[in-house]
Amino acid sequence: MPRPLRVLFVSAECTPFTRGGGLGEVARSLPIALGKLGHQVKVVIPWTRAVPAERMGVRPVGELRFPFDGGTASAMLGSSRALPGVEVLLVKNWRHLARVYGGRYDRYGVVSEYRRFWFFASAVAHLAGRADFSPDVVHCNDHHTAMAAVFLARRPQRPGLLLTIHNALFQGSFDIRFIRRRQLDNARSELPEMSSRRARFVNFLRRGIRAADFVNTVSPSYAQELLTGEEGMGLCEFLREKGERFLGILNGIDLEANDPARDPALHAPFSWKDLSARLRSRKALLRYAGLPEKSAPILAMVARLYEQKGVGLLLRTLDPILSLGAQVAVCGDGLPALVGVLRALSARHPHQLSYRPFDRERESLYYAGSDIFLMPSRWEPCGLTQLKAMRYGSVPVVRATGGLKDTVREHEPTRPGGNGFLFSEYDPWAFHAAVVKALAAFERPSEWRALQARAMREDFSFEASAKKYVEVYRRAAAEGRGRLRST
Ligand code: GLC
Repeated sequence: MPRPLRVLFVSAECTPFTRGGGLGEVARSLPIALGKLGHQVKVVIPWTRAVPAERMGVRPVGELRFPFDGGTASAMLGSSRALPGVEVLLVKNWRHLARVYGGRYDRYGVVSEYRRFWFFASAVAHLAGRADFSPDVVHCNDHHTAMAAVFLARRPQRPGLLLTIHNALFQGSFDIRFIRRRQLDNARSELPEMSSRRARFVNFLRRGIRAADFVNTVSPSYAQELLTGEEGMGLCEFLREKGERFLGILNGIDLEANDPARDPALHAPFSWKDLSARLRSRKALLRYAGLPEKSAPILAMVARLYEQKGVGLLLRTLDPILSLGAQVAVCGDGLPALVGVLRALSARHPHQLSYRPFDRERESLYYAGSDIFLMPSRWEPCGLTQLKAMRYGSVPVVRATGGLKDTVREHEPTRPGGNGFLFSEYDPWAFHAAVVKALAAFERPSEWRALQARAMREDFSFEASAKKYVEVYRRAAAEGRGRLRST
């Protein structure tokens, strides 16, 4: 039996400590899955003002003092046991870390956050180097924490380093969207001091990729897409350099936290064996969404309302979809312009279109009460909502990209085995055609019920992926020790 590993999982967010998105959910469910496999995992996140510390049982456990910006900085370290089998550590210094993501909803794309995350990464690098702590592996996630890998890689004695990319669009304060090409950090020059003018041009993600022993993203298909350039966002060259040290590992979901048979948010639990109780969730969803009860199919979308999620495709096909008689329920926060359009359109079609802001308490109602789940993403590193939708019996219609392609298989009436519907081109009519195909299948009740049951029985647990992470951890840890031996 190989020795259990000590893993420090570094993230800007972790559900339910923060009100985040997919990254926060993975930062909760992957460590729990690793804990169940017998490994000792600590998650470390910023302790911002938004963290409900008391409710989460956070208690102070010490102070960190570490080099920062030419001097010494300090931070308070908190600890919580709110997650099963996993300790969550929180780094508190409200001068630098009172909030993250600039308080905006566009969580990953805020300019000038480099100071915050530089500070956090410095604290984490210090923590990971403490003799009383000494993890085998430090697992950084996204650009926010990538600098911890950069700082640790310079040390002669260090743990193995893994960096996971949850979305390549976001690379740090000055990513490819905000600056001219010639200003783009080549990530090969020496790291500037944080106080210098050049510091704000540092591309955290590129530097993290170079520093880490291994890099992965959250689905095999997205890994391929990043390597072929189109979705690479300027990372292609850096990822190619990693060779077989860059890989795709599919996310999972926490099957206990996402279980229609045990979900307290639903009035009547149900499972794939008996879907009759699902009708109560359907009614509850319509009530919450403010839509009248009809026998029409309900199409749901739960997403951050940004370009990535393909909201544009939905808006452009809404009229023909509504003219087929369907009801559409959208839930999510995002760009004010998109929210405005959705609100205006729902006022114009009050019986058929509903828009509600995101509400974690109601999220599962959308999966449990809808018939079809829409996810026409332009790109999707993995996607978690299609997995949850399937678990609750809402059949997904998705664009064949990234993790959507890796989790949804096309349903053919004559060849049962699929669990949803796909389209390829990022084009409104391709999307519309897939919706029409799904609506046609919905009209054939026994075929539909079998399709629903198949989707519900898919195993999207994190266990298989956690095992793959463990393999990478072991290789990365050997790397860390290897360098130690050679010094
Ligand atoms: C990001 C990606 C999403 C992925 C999630 C967790 O939110 O956009 O596709 O599922 O991270 O990895």
